[in-house]
Amino acid sequence: MNQFREGIAPHGGVLVNRIATSEQQQIFLDKADFLPRISLDKRATSDLVMIAIGGFSPLTGFMGKADYDPVVADMRLADGLPWAVPVTLSVSGEVAESLEIGGLVRLDDPTGRFIGVLELTEKYAYDKVQEAVNVYRTDEDKHPGVKVVYDQGPINLAGPVWLLQRDPHPLFPTYQIDPAESRALFSQKGWKTIVGFQTRNPIHRAHEYIQKCALETVDGLFLHPLVGATKSDDIPADVRMRCYEIMMERYFPSDRVILAINPSAMRYAGPREAIFHALIRKNYGCTHFIVGRDHAGVGDYYGTYDAQYIFDEFEPDELGITPMKFEHAFYCTRTGTMATTKTSPSSTEERIHLSGTKVREMLRRGELPPPEFSRPEVAAELARAMQVPQAV
Ligand code: ADX
Repeated sequence: MNQFREGIAPHGGVLVNRIATSEQQQIFLDKADFLPRISLDKRATSDLVMIAIGGFSPLTGFMGKADYDPVVADMRLADGLPWAVPVTLSVSGEVAESLEIGGLVRLDDPTGRFIGVLELTEKYAYDKVQEAVNVYRTDEDKHPGVKVVYDQGPINLAGPVWLLQRDPHPLFPTYQIDPAESRALFSQKGWKTIVGFQTRNPIHRAHEYIQKCALETVDGLFLHPLVGATKSDDIPADVRMRCYEIMMERYFPSDRVILAINPSAMRYAGPREAIFHALIRKNYGCTHFIVGRDHAGVGDYYGTYDAQYIFDEFEPDELGITPMKFEHAFYCTRTGTMATTKTSPSSTEERIHLSGTKVREMLRRGELPPPEFSRPEVAAELARAMQVPQAV
């Protein structure tokens, strides 16, 4: 593809754009009041946006059965292209019945705003337990991703979509850099190799360490926090964004790092989501992707490095983005540096690492996590957000 000679090709070769043109937009607006209407939840709203801006290339809409089945069974789309997580729009049987194949369906966001259109090509039933077991590796509804599947309707609607218009993000408009823009930015900066970093947490020293290790070997870092739906006990995106800004201002070389938001919703699918996350970053133009310990994991559903092993199930050129795998990082008191067992001679007692739960407990008690775990300004920002008296 000519347009991608400068950078890495998007997944499937073409960067999808499903944002309505002004003519299409006018047609949709004229029809809006007469179309059947579906209310999207937060996740489906994010999925619609991701499809439209090309973040989910090659998908042009919600998946039909021909893609859904092999994705669930073998992590492949109907044409054999790797894809690890279903992107579906589920409704009740009653709603499905009321809709006609071949017709347009108006898509509203959770606030009732008209945001997109689906051309309905198919309705199909699917097996929720099979999706849970294959994609999330458990059938337990305690798993937050599985719970979403169990709670959603029994019929999937499929077909191409259009986003009515691309609105600026209400909270983080300056960090909204869509795939076509990030690609242009990387090329302007002359970056040939770019590593993407997924996160749903504030950046702690371990995150910073693995990002900087990666940055030692590539041209640029795309710091790409997920700001779509997360589970209720994750740190909210606005608090995290302030923490990322602190890191950008004080701890990262600003000319080699771009901070941008990833509008997707978390699925907590661990290994499969690591593949999904990597392909999304490929679409944004990254050549490399960081996968550390228990990537996109939750509870103890996945082994510490399962999200790394899953990359071995594909030929490297099939994915088209290179995973950079990191072991569990910690602060080593013996050497006075961040390290992993690959580089540190320490015993377990000489390693400082705190779990997210432990840190939340500390913050609630008004204690700041130590500088070996978190940069002090980030810790202070988190403490402020949790409305506890600060110790500094
Ligand atoms: S995730 O759900 O987005 O994966 P998180 O924001 O905690 O959660 O992790 C972002 C990335 O950093 C993931 O690739 C994860 O594997 C990695 N990571 C988090 N903590 C560590 C650690 N202590 N050592 C190595 N990698 C880590």
